[in-house]
Amino acid sequence: MMTQPEVLDAFARVVGAQNVLTGDLASSYEVDWTGRYCGTSTAVIRPATTAEVAAVVTICREHSLPIVPQGGNTGMVGGGVPLHGEVVLSLQRMTSIDEVDPVAMQVSAQAGVTIESLQLAAEAAGLRYGVDFGGRGTATLGGTIATNAGGLNVLRHGMTRDQVVGIEAVLGTGDIVRSMSGLIKDNTGYHLPSLFVGSEGTLGIVTGARMRLVASPSHRVAALIALPSIDAAVHATATLRTHLEGLEAAELMLDDGVQLVSREFGVLSPFARTYPVYLLVEVAASNDPLDEVGNVVESLPEVLDVAVAADGHRRAALWRLRDDHTTAINRVGVPQKFDVTVPHIALAGFVTKVRSQITALHPEATTWIFGHVGDGNLHVNVTGAQGDRGLSDTIYGLVIDLGGSISAEHGIGTSKAKYLAMQKSSEELTVMRALKQVLDPDNIMNPHVLFSREVQSGTA
Ligand code: FAD
Ligand code: MLT
Ligand code: ZN
Repeated sequence: MMTQPEVLDAFARVVGAQNVLTGDLASSYEVDWTGRYCGTSTAVIRPATTAEVAAVVTICREHSLPIVPQGGNTGMVGGGVPLHGEVVLSLQRMTSIDEVDPVAMQVSAQAGVTIESLQLAAEAAGLRYGVDFGGRGTATLGGTIATNAGGLNVLRHGMTRDQVVGIEAVLGTGDIVRSMSGLIKDNTGYHLPSLFVGSEGTLGIVTGARMRLVASPSHRVAALIALPSIDAAVHATATLRTHLEGLEAAELMLDDGVQLVSREFGVLSPFARTYPVYLLVEVAASNDPLDEVGNVVESLPEVLDVAVAADGHRRAALWRLRDDHTTAINRVGVPQKFDVTVPHIALAGFVTKVRSQITALHPEATTWIFGHVGDGNLHVNVTGAQGDRGLSDTIYGLVIDLGGSISAEHGIGTSKAKYLAMQKSSEELTVMRALKQVLDPDNIMNPHVLFSREVQSGTA
């Protein structure tokens, strides 16, 4: 068995000593974006190629060193930081993007590419990448595949899962699997790329991927619609989805969140007064959809006010009100984040109930709610709560009772691992454990993520 300095030397021989970080140099990789999850690592290793990733995994396997893969470290569920002294394998240096294939409408890239870089590459080829969200500048392709990120355009283009055409990955065995042909029609057995979507680094390390691109309509219109209630926003969204073919986003914001963003960042609401609820929608089309959007919004029964933006500058100003929610809430305090889905019809009732349950358990706390109303996905953020006091059990219990999901788009990570058995049957968990056993027989890949100890051993 090698000593720790010997293991670090072995890593250095693979990636170069300057890419083996310890001490202060490792600290920014050891705490998550929200500041809630913080640990220490054996070392942070920054490989540049798939072969280097495989060599690092092989060393870790030989020495039983658990690995936490890390992309942009923007994850929200404590899955990308070393909470138990793991080795962090950072994909930050793997940032190359191949030329866009305009015929297949696809692009291949290394896992460490940011979503923004991928979007810009698609844009330069007159196309668009179908996933977008506020963390675009830092979140990586590999991280978004590992968490199956959703974001703002799911109702039009689907989740990250729907964009993945191929994957290259290093398994927990150190073996490399590569399925990057880009063939949409290829029914030759199990679709291995799909396995890695939502796997949260527990099966292997995604080193590259081939992604679907979509057409980029020339006209865009955003509208901020003020409404009296969440129920009105849910019904307005249904009408907009039915009548606007090009609807790309339908996002819910509440008065307190919009006021917070305005206060923290000086982003002004277009309205002279405040309203209880806001629905931010965006429509993209090849013919100017301005009149169509106006007509449909006019037909909505409970609209209190509306601001429409057709030029890029004014659209961006409306989107800042939504994009900056996450950062603004983090400025208030380290949040407890509950990323949940409930059936559309239950959304308004859920908000009333969850607020009163949070207040009952934590009268000292503040609740912030916003989200992707088109997908039935709400982000419930709690700041200022002292401890948990049964908060997570209560919220997840309510979500399950309503037929929802305890993780809409952020994943399970370490923070929800003990709740996974609320959502998955024992048969499903058995299959998941069996898959992990084959791809990661020594359980070195993110061993504390997804499966809690009970779920791992099959006693949950
Ligand atoms: P990391 O945080 O580094 O890692 C996340 C998980 O993936 C960890 O378990 C890690 O081990 C694993 N992982 C990372 N890279 C790899 C790899 N190459 N191979 C295998 N496993 C890997 N998420 C949404 O879904 N929708 C949103 O709308 C959204 N908005 C956000 C807005 C802001 C401002 C921020 C800060 C975050 C937002 N997020 C959102 C959350 C976050 O950006 C996503 O979860 C994203 O997918 C994480 O990507 P990352 O590269 O930062 O991954
Ligand atoms: C968002 O939609 O902005 C995110 O998923 C991030 C968050 O929940 O804060
Ligand atoms: Zn979100």
